[in-house]
Amino acid sequence: MTKEHASPATETSHFIQKNSVAIRIWHWLTFLTILSLFITVLMASTALNPRKNIAEVQNALKEKGVIVSNEQAWAVSHMYDDKMWDFHKILGFALTFLFLSRFVIEATQPKKEKVNFRFRNALAAFRQPGQDKKELKHYLLVKGSYFAFYLLLLAMVGTGLVIAFGSDLGLSGPVRHSVKEAHGFFQYGFYTFFAVHLIGVVVAELGKAKGVISGMINGGK
Ligand code: HEM
Repeated sequence: MTKEHASPATETSHFIQKNSVAIRIWHWLTFLTILSLFITVLMASTALNPRKNIAEVQNALKEKGVIVSNEQAWAVSHMYDDKMWDFHKILGFALTFLFLSRFVIEATQPKKEKVNFRFRNALAAFRQPGQDKKELKHYLLVKGSYFAFYLLLLAMVGTGLVIAFGSDLGLSGPVRHSVKEAHGFFQYGFYTFFAVHLIGVVVAELGKAKGVISGMINGGK
């Protein structure tokens, strides 16, 4: 096996590295898709929350001289919420496609730009004496967080597909309910990743890894 260790003497920061066009397009499409998914969840649980809109539907109809029960008002209020969840489902399919395409991109990346190569390379450098352990440890932690993200993505996409096709697959109500609970729970992992990742790249940009954000736009040096 060839050992091509990135040396701190030749690089400003291990984080300053090349990002292929495919990775950049994938990154920003994934960002947009996940952000849109966040928005659908936010809208469905606030402005379009059917329970919260029952009274509004009843009042609007009352003004037109029609009195409806809670159940009748619910039939209207949940229609709009359902539309938002349909949109959420479409975005979920887009995310599934992006998840699968990440494997294709990885397989076609130049060797030096493969996640696996970069991780092993940093690990090997970390084990060598005389290296900047602190920076390498940080680098390994960040790359490790991407592995964790891909696992989370697998869990989210997997549970989402089970919710979408559960009844067609003949899964029982309780099973589908548990999967739905898990799907809802995993969202917190995404919020955490998003916050930590965003703060991380901004701090890196303002600190030792100047150019790391533009590197995800223009490809880096
Ligand atoms: C939903 C939002 C986001 C997700 C899910 C996400 C996900 C990811 C993932 C998985 C990677 C690693 C790619 C790989 O090599 O496999 C990455 C790298 C990166 N992302 Fe994001 N990202 C998000 C938002 C952002 C935003 C808003 C920025 C910029 C302000 C950003 C800047 C970067 C940079 C600079 C890197 C490369 C850092 C490095 O080499 O360690 N990301 N992102």
